[in-house]
Amino acid sequence: MSRLDGKVAFITGGGGGIGRATAERFAEEGAKVVIAEINPDVGVSAAESARAFGGNSGGDAHFIKTDVSDADSVQSAIAETVDRFGRLHILHNNAGGSTLQDGPVTKAPVEEFWRCINLDLFGTFLCSKYAIPVIAKSGGGSVINMSSNVALMALPGRDCYTAAKGAIAAMTRSMAVEYAPDKIRVNAIAPSVTLSDRVKKLLDASPEIEAISETHLLGLGEPIHIAEMAVYLAADESLITTGQVISVDSGVTIV
Ligand SMILES: NC(=O)c1ccc[n+]([C@@H]2O[C@H](COP(=O)([O-])OP(=O)(O)OC[C@H]3O[C@@H](n4cnc5c(N)ncnc54)[C@H](O)[C@@H]3O)[C@@H](O)[C@H]2O)c1
Repeated sequence: MSRLDGKVAFITGGGGGIGRATAERFAEEGAKVVIAEINPDVGVSAAESARAFGGNSGGDAHFIKTDVSDADSVQSAIAETVDRFGRLHILHNNAGGSTLQDGPVTKAPVEEFWRCINLDLFGTFLCSKYAIPVIAKSGGGSVINMSSNVALMALPGRDCYTAAKGAIAAMTRSMAVEYAPDKIRVNAIAPSVTLSDRVKKLLDASPEIEAISETHLLGLGEPIHIAEMAVYLAADESLITTGQVISVDSGVTIV
């Protein structure tokens, strides 16, 4: 039996990077996966790839064009998920990310602050708002939020992103208490630098890459490292793990 047999998962931003690697691993472990993604090109291709990963285990994948920062879009994506798969057990609030426009509060553009809050934080709020009642009706499950090492340590020059990811860590704890009676656990993963294509591009433009690598005790992470933690949090193995912000960060927060 596979680790996610019989589970239905909704992964936001599942078209690229960590979300795509997670969709592939979930399908490989037998889950039916919805890739809720704003960009149809990467969404369709990630769904095809995840379906191939699920070939031997009964896993499946389906792309639904979704903007996590738009309430109507999220509501309709959750409704389509239920129409297609009948239930929902796992919500992975993964869509998000920082940009080079971020900076210290005195320098960062106001637009960048709201971009981060809208995508990372409001997107997490909206998808949780509409998915959690369905997870509760399905008998319970797991919400996996995406925080970051910036929520746990001072990382200068990313104050917009830090505000969003810190709020997600805090909201993870209150949600864990609120939805425990529905047998829903709520955790967050806090990765540090993880080499998705987007981050590789950011690092190519950064003179700090060597210094960043030195602070990562076991080297920089790949999307698959984060996906493996998501599999654990999605599977029944993590049945009494809730309210945690779990670092997958090559030890960067302890040095
Ligand atoms: N990669 C890292 O170094 C790192 C570190 C810490 C935390 N994280 C977090 O992990 C998550 C994934 O990061 P990644 O590097 O894999 O990102 P990525 O940019 O590679 O992938 C994000 C995906 O989200 C999609 N997306 C963007 N806006 C969307 C919207 N409004 N609605 C739906 N989908 C949308 C994009 O099209 C893309 O496919 C993010 O929340 C990020 O903040 C990443």
